[in-house]
Amino acid sequence: MIYVTRREHFNAAHKLYNESWSPEKNETVFGKCANPNWHGHNYELFVTVKGSVNPQTGFVVNLKDLSALIRTEICDKLDHKNLNLDVDFMQGVMTSTENVAIVIFNKLAPKIKELGTNLHAIKLCETENNCVEYFGE
Ligand code: NI
Repeated sequence: MIYVTRREHFNAAHKLYNESWSPEKNETVFGKCANPNWHGHNYELFVTVKGSVNPQTGFVVNLKDLSALIRTEICDKLDHKNLNLDVDFMQGVMTSTENVAIVIFNKLAPKIKELGTNLHAIKLCETENNCVEYFGE
């Protein structure tokens, strides 16, 4: 088993806000991320697949195909968008880095199977210092 990672990038706006809480509690819990007029991040997305090396290509997956898939399914739909408002598959989701990573994993996993390999992990970095990883469970 060998693991291959492709990095992609998107910029997006969001806010973290729990409607059932007071503005003060939202401010306390989410800080700047609760700003009513939104804020943005430069997200770094790392998609890791696992499989065995195809003896004819030497590849686990053709990274050209994986990159195109991530762009079509994720980056084109999230880049320069408001995650809370503009993205149909994020509706009703608290757009924390954790939840965005889970949504991306669940969206990509079946498509990556169609490329003949398996999704191992999504790593999503909201800032240089804050990243989450999701392995599907
Ligand atoms: Ni934020």
